[in-house]
Amino acid sequence: MMQDDLKRQPSRVDGRAKVTGKATYIAEFRFPDLAYGYLVQSTIARGTVRDIDTAEAEKQPGVVKILTHKNAPKLANPQADEDFGEKSRPFFALMTDRVLFSGQPVAVVIADTFEQARYAASLVKVSYNEEKPSTDIRDVMDKGFASGRPRPVRGTPDEAFAAAEVKVEAEYTIPIEHHNAMEPHATVANWDGERLTVYDKTQGVTGVRNYLATNFGIDREKITVLSPFVGGAFGASLRPTPNTLLAVMAARETKRPVKIVYSRRQLATAHGYRPASIQKIKIGADKAGKLNSIIHEAVHNTSSHEDFAEDLVGISRTLYACPNVRTDAKITRTDLQTPLWMRAPGTVSGAFALESALDELAYKLKIDPLELRLINYAETDPDSGRPFSSKELRECYRQGAERFGWKDRKPEPRSMRDGRFMVGWGLATGTWGAFLAPSSARVTLKADGTALVESGTTDIGPGTYTTISLIAARQLGLPLEKVTFKLGDSNLPSAPSQGGSITTASVGTAVQECAQIVQKDLMATESKREASPFSGVPFENIEFVDGAVRIKGRPETAMTIGEVLSRNGLPEVTATHTTRPDFGERAKYATASHGAQFVEVKVDEEIGIVRVTRVVQATAAGRIINPKGAHSQEMGGVVWGIGMALMEHTEIDHRIGRIMNPNLAGYHVPVNADIGAIETIFVPEEDTIVNPLGAKGLGELGLVGIPAGIANAVYHATGIRVRDLPITPDKLTR
Ligand code: MOS
Repeated sequence: MMQDDLKRQPSRVDGRAKVTGKATYIAEFRFPDLAYGYLVQSTIARGTVRDIDTAEAEKQPGVVKILTHKNAPKLANPQADEDFGEKSRPFFALMTDRVLFSGQPVAVVIADTFEQARYAASLVKVSYNEEKPSTDIRDVMDKGFASGRPRPVRGTPDEAFAAAEVKVEAEYTIPIEHHNAMEPHATVANWDGERLTVYDKTQGVTGVRNYLATNFGIDREKITVLSPFVGGAFGASLRPTPNTLLAVMAARETKRPVKIVYSRRQLATAHGYRPASIQKIKIGADKAGKLNSIIHEAVHNTSSHEDFAEDLVGISRTLYACPNVRTDAKITRTDLQTPLWMRAPGTVSGAFALESALDELAYKLKIDPLELRLINYAETDPDSGRPFSSKELRECYRQGAERFGWKDRKPEPRSMRDGRFMVGWGLATGTWGAFLAPSSARVTLKADGTALVESGTTDIGPGTYTTISLIAARQLGLPLEKVTFKLGDSNLPSAPSQGGSITTASVGTAVQECAQIVQKDLMATESKREASPFSGVPFENIEFVDGAVRIKGRPETAMTIGEVLSRNGLPEVTATHTTRPDFGERAKYATASHGAQFVEVKVDEEIGIVRVTRVVQATAAGRIINPKGAHSQEMGGVVWGIGMALMEHTEIDHRIGRIMNPNLAGYHVPVNADIGAIETIFVPEEDTIVNPLGAKGLGELGLVGIPAGIANAVYHATGIRVRDLPITPDKLTR
């Protein structure tokens, strides 16, 4: 979007609090008499703890208690992670002597101050029975096993590939990557008798509450989990991390509130990561560019104890019209902590392979990469055969190409230059499911003309505070500043975790419907009042505008909401509502967001440095509720894509199975100076099927095509096809 358009759009309602430091993040919360926990982490990746000597540490001033597997209380029911299958055993710290990954918490030292805890932790002596770890996916790629249920083969892909006129066969690899959010994982836990209050960095307060209830064997109603602000998560807080359980346990054992905060160095193993993956793609086409076969085989790593699987191959089943498709997904065990969903999980990895392979095919065919995509455009979902509820991808290609100036691209690699830089133009496609989950919300209209909106969702940064406030304000006919949205509290009406780009559609629908219920309730009461101008007026003929209610077309009937309430002797009107979207109707359609990404890179031929100088990101994601927030999300996708394509790489010393760059000095992410021009285009879609709001998720979508788009642009610039991320200078200066 253009800067001028954006200036007219509302900014984040929580923006001022965030930039002035008034927004409180988890590690900043405290209770009286707070004690501090500091983790001791394993220095081996596989084996058992032979002994832990805490004698010296316990003598130190301020030390309250040291918990290890020898004295930690057993959990009531340590199986509570319903997202995972039966064979999967989620990791619980301090439950056994077994070491499953380097950096595993093996003790927690609780002391009066943070410094005392940290110092005493350095004196805990742990000895191990060490076993040789296996952490390199290359060593175990052949030991992969199928994850999830097998998906049907479409047509006869192997035969079709063998007979294809033009073929691409290639292998693509992506290393482990870490979320590296600014806010560290942290928990502050306080027991008040049987009641438990927990500040926890999480993407889902309801999930953490339920997890603690199960593991500690207490009623959900006795637990409050709070997460008012989240300093970035990207999936890293979709599952409870060890600090959550340990802080609650330590607080119960010491009878004091306890805070545990991971240090930056410790964080590398606090949570999971985007798994390392190896993908083999075979694509066959005829000379006119029509695809006749896609075969996509992927393997990614998981831990030794848990079957974590993400969907790398799904995109190859649905993005292009192709009669013969086979996908094969496997996982393989490594002695690392379990991976975790990380921004556009699975899909961005799969898109790197598929969209790179399609680019390779375009050069073989001597067909423009955009033209090739249009030749194989999927008018209906090739996987399910269902129509799309809406799909303006063709328009994304058209508008994006026009804005970018794609028609001026010279097809040959190494054919465009800017002084000493080789210039490359590449493109890719993105898609992300338009998911939806039942959600609850409460809306209260007050006599002072304000509204309070509440739902137990979180805002990990995409702007949910603002987006949901906008939905309520529009429905209620109130200015944005009259609406307050409260979230991040497990006592609020429950909402799903903020993940999978579902929040606007899911919670937004609940809020919109709930606001309408409140309006109807208010007017039902008012219309029964004697001498009410609204008596006998059907609700459809009433509108809420500028904080007032009036009969449509009769502005003289306007009455402020406060006036309506007071004439009825009501201090407020409130309703709580749980959505039951029409999943039956939705199921007749394929529902997804789409986007096209056009990328310009400039590559320094001598030193191999790639600069992403220009990106046009064209997005079709239904109705855009919060234009500035949406623009910011799409920009964020580009920035992340630059990191994934060019920099991000969790380095492991496979001899000892340890992460060697557990910090922001060694783990590279883009900074301001790495970012060029980013333009966003939103192609509107009218979609009444996807959900009542007509909005589709777009947060993760914005990343999906970018790494492939950059790799394709790098090939166009240099003639070097890098199939192994990240595209570091050494790979371009051979
Ligand atoms: Mo999503 S994997 O929580 O960014």
